Amino acid sequence: MTAPNGCPVSPEAADFDPFESAYQLDPPEALRWSRDQEPVFYSPKLGYWVVSRYADVKEIFRDNQVFSPAIALEKITPVSQEAQDTLKRYNYAMNRTLVNEDEPAHMERRRALMESFTLDELKHHEPMLQSLTQEYLDRIIDKGEADLVDEMLWEIPLTVALHFLGIPEEDMDTLREYSIAHTVNTWGRPSKEEQVAVAEAVGKFWQYAGKVLEKMRQDPSGHGWMKYAIRMQKELPDIVTDSYLHSMMMAGIVAAHETTAHASANMFRLLLENREVWDDICGNPALIPNAVEECLRYSGSVAAWRRIATADTRIGDTEIPKGSKLLIISASANHDDRHFENPDDLDIYRDNTTDHLTFGYGAHQCMGKNLARMEMRIFLEAFTRRLPQLELVPDQTFTFVPNTSFRGPEHLWVRWDQRQNPERRDP
Ligand code: HEM
Repeated sequence: MTAPNGCPVSPEAADFDPFESAYQLDPPEALRWSRDQEPVFYSPKLGYWVVSRYADVKEIFRDNQVFSPAIALEKITPVSQEAQDTLKRYNYAMNRTLVNEDEPAHMERRRALMESFTLDELKHHEPMLQSLTQEYLDRIIDKGEADLVDEMLWEIPLTVALHFLGIPEEDMDTLREYSIAHTVNTWGRPSKEEQVAVAEAVGKFWQYAGKVLEKMRQDPSGHGWMKYAIRMQKELPDIVTDSYLHSMMMAGIVAAHETTAHASANMFRLLLENREVWDDICGNPALIPNAVEECLRYSGSVAAWRRIATADTRIGDTEIPKGSKLLIISASANHDDRHFENPDDLDIYRDNTTDHLTFGYGAHQCMGKNLARMEMRIFLEAFTRRLPQLELVPDQTFTFVPNTSFRGPEHLWVRWDQRQNPERRDP
């Protein structure tokens, strides 16, 4: 078997399947052979070139002219006719947002819409996030056992996402179903039957986004990224277009919600699996921001991203023809020992942790990174203070929604002896 550049496909490359359990359970481990032997390879099962080393992944993120982000939200599994018809019934017309827009349109929009992400603006969300976190913790604190994902880590980032966008907090459960459908629709491998159900949910999500937008247009005053974008549309109608606003409403919910929910679940799992690190941050909360960053490096919620080559080019020693699709595995890059010393150690004192590529890099680097960091920090501050004795329920099996990119356990069972709660001993 040969790759599109005429080179033979190695047996490991021929076997690679990101929808199988090795990659789902541990992406950096599943790509170790590639980092060591074949850092750029063609995957015939996927029809993509896969890139696994830090320097290559970073360079691809950096050069958004040769490596266009246009396919970042393309469905990775071809859609059946029936599913396409279903989407058509809902007038589904997801267009470019920011993340998959080329220059110069991308940078004009990014600049026009940046204000809501400044640290000063983000401060508006902190009191709400603090009280929400305490409220959810109050609900479980005397139970002694909880599924952190179901009982907290899914809903709080969703509420924060809606707050950030300026959307009223309603239809939470429906939105939860919709956003999972969006992930499967974009990065998953649904069967033919599943595709239709997924398309139904995605179509409803699209319509919902449109309705909320219409409501907001009637009064776009006040805080919220979408409201701000509607106001900016009046000033810059050619840059902030109608189609963009509708797509942004839907993509914005997913970008802000699932990424952060998964990152938080990964973080709790990882810290509780590394007890000495957990105990360190309980003893010294000033270490929490470092711990957040190291968890984002070690077990980020976005494992891989996509680009398409706009010209014949090379990545390292590998020739890549124009039009090639690339799956760049940031989770693997973050464990590359060419860049991170002892990358498989969770080390919250590491001095180059923030070099990780979980938020991407360059012109498209995640705009919401500081909001995500703030959420993760506040969760840790609350838990290390109120439940330092927290531990994982032993022998649980972690499951993941099979897809290439968004990664976090569907459930995370933790337990604690409620008689040891610091606030019971010292109310
Ligand atoms: C873009 C990851 C949270 C909004 C991105 C990209 C990644 C990413 C990988 C693409 C970067 C690139 O192409 O170079 C994450 C992770 C998060 C997170 C891991 C949580 C831990 C958020 C939040 C928001 C957000 C909370 C919104 C409030 C965006 C936007 C873009 C983006 C608007 C597009 C930026 C552009 O193309 O210019 N994010 N994200 N993200 N993210 Fe995030």
